[in-house]
Amino acid sequence: MKRNSFYITTPIYYPSAKLHIGHAYCTTIADTIARFKRLTGHDVFFLTGSDEHGQKIQQKAAEEGVTPIAYVDKIVAGFQGLWQKLHISNDDFIRTTEKRHERVVQEIFRRIYEKGDIYKGKYKGLYCTPCESYWTERQLVDGKCPDCGRAVAEVEEDAYFFKMSRYADRVLAYIEANPDFIQPVSRRNEMINFIKQGLEDLCISRTSFDWGIPVPIAPSHVIYVWFDALTNYLTPIGFLDDIETFEKYWPADVHLVGKEIVRFHSIIWPCILMALDLPLPKMVYGHGWLIVDGDKMSKSKGNVVDPVKLIDEFGADAIRYFLLREINLGQDGNFSRDALITRINADLANDLGNLLHRTLNMIGKFQDGIVEKAQGESAVDCAFRADAEATIAAYEREMEEMKLQNAIKTTWAFISRANKYIDETMPWALAKDAAKKQELTNTLCNLAESLRRISVLIEPFMPETAQKIWRQLGLGENFAAVRLADVRTWGGFPAGTRVGSPEQLFPRIELEEEERPAAQGRKDSAAKSQKPQKKQKEGKADGAAAADGLVTIDEFNRVDLRVAEILAAERVPDTAKLMRLKVSLGEEEREVVSGIAEFYAAEELVGKKVVLVANLKPAKIRGIRSHGMLLCAASEGGLQLVEPAAPAGSKVK
Ligand code: ME8
Ligand code: MG
Repeated sequence: MKRNSFYITTPIYYPSAKLHIGHAYCTTIADTIARFKRLTGHDVFFLTGSDEHGQKIQQKAAEEGVTPIAYVDKIVAGFQGLWQKLHISNDDFIRTTEKRHERVVQEIFRRIYEKGDIYKGKYKGLYCTPCESYWTERQLVDGKCPDCGRAVAEVEEDAYFFKMSRYADRVLAYIEANPDFIQPVSRRNEMINFIKQGLEDLCISRTSFDWGIPVPIAPSHVIYVWFDALTNYLTPIGFLDDIETFEKYWPADVHLVGKEIVRFHSIIWPCILMALDLPLPKMVYGHGWLIVDGDKMSKSKGNVVDPVKLIDEFGADAIRYFLLREINLGQDGNFSRDALITRINADLANDLGNLLHRTLNMIGKFQDGIVEKAQGESAVDCAFRADAEATIAAYEREMEEMKLQNAIKTTWAFISRANKYIDETMPWALAKDAAKKQELTNTLCNLAESLRRISVLIEPFMPETAQKIWRQLGLGENFAAVRLADVRTWGGFPAGTRVGSPEQLFPRIELEEEERPAAQGRKDSAAKSQKPQKKQKEGKADGAAAADGLVTIDEFNRVDLRVAEILAAERVPDTAKLMRLKVSLGEEEREVVSGIAEFYAAEELVGKKVVLVANLKPAKIRGIRSHGMLLCAASEGGLQLVEPAAPAGSKVK
């Protein structure tokens, strides 16, 4: 049966602490997919929530001297505040402490118990409290929890067990028969190996603490937190009380989760669903982890990034854009302030901001702010339209395949294309020639049309910016009702529309570091110091070298060395040594100032392949923002560039 509905979920997060940027990352991905599905006309249900029971939460509350519910109420209010700030469009928010959920969990327990798949036994096991996970001896790594590396405790108590072993073969068969069920594929193979080692029955109740949902047939037991947590996905879509809604949305289309909990979602959860005779979710997607400046986030390291502070500083859409653009969905990715600022400046302030600004300015200046009707089409217009059409097709395919990063790249390639179209058509020159009036009208109309499309394409990533563009284009207040189908055909920009005046979407952010050769004149440094500069204090032991002067392989690996091709070179005026270079890293272009002017002429540099320290902090040199450094061999003969033959963008390691 072809359904038009689409059900997507995030993990329900533990309110054991405030959420960090990793949680925001996962929820942003889910939100982007949900928004895209709404754009393509689906009836979407997007669920997130909080996983509030368990021993750890009870301990935390006790430490703070408050009741568990008072403790979680406060933290969960913070979750909801964060999602609002981040423009998360969830359709419901499930708290496992809600009555509606308790009913579902108890009913599920009862059904499976009556079926004979839950029995009472003695639990003896190894438990990791912070992860709320039981492990078998063989799963431990060096005797420690395989997820977090902390000590596990041996526990023994009366407990109820779910006969998971009964379902192992069926789950394995399902995974094997449905190649798309576990994504990305690498995680699928991991899960297959895991099941093949044999599934043990799952302990689903505890008596050693009481912050949980009581077992309906034995209230001195509470239900093990994962059994309680996984079933959250059934509660808000009417599992017990609204069969029509339930059948509309179940099975879920995507459970988006972090890679560490794919196992719970692709093995334990299917076993529970099979015991309930319910269909299995269509996909469990395990995304990678966000690493901060090369390190795993942890409280003890003090490098936990607070998304609320980031949003306050840079705005929600900039953060969303960065997370989606910078990280390849299935893989781990790095978060750094410098990379964030670079993206904001290059992609948002520059590429997107300039396109909007230039377009609106010209429509204002040359046509009194009115987009007039296009007639006829030049070869340049035609090529531009063809690129716009190819963009939508590629974008749609990439979004469908959850290749969000590619879809953003596709969209930004079109933004650059539109900027190039301005340079090709030179509307300012057309405006000087009365005979070119229609050509000018066509050009400006095409630019307005391209921005109309861009605003719709970026809506899943940057909803607030998308709407701002739509409004500035004079397209009105009905943006929420716009669908992708509305921009599929070129030329939909209504003639006669009066555009607004350009308002800045993203201000440029100045980086704090300034490096200036000592002999440099004063005149621009006075102006620079006026600029509001973003704080960037980390004060970490970043640069602290080991006493023996050695670096570890991990430290070395943090240096991102890339092959770069020199596209353009010119001497920096009034300097002996400095050369200003434009280099390509394959998909990205940069400016770099390098002290090689005494050894190379500008002309001979163009076309050379060199090695660039790609993740060097950007610095201003003679007022030029230099992002990276070229490697040279230094000898008595002076500096000699290291020149590899590999293609631009290749990693040097
Ligand atoms: O596991 N990078 O909750 P949780 C990227 N309550 N994503 C990260 C991340 C990081 N560094 N850290 C966390 C639980 N996440 C259970 C889930 S579901 C039925 C129950 C994200 O608070 C990622 O999606 O530990 C991960 O799976 C989730 O937060 C874990 O959140
Ligand atoms: Mg966790």
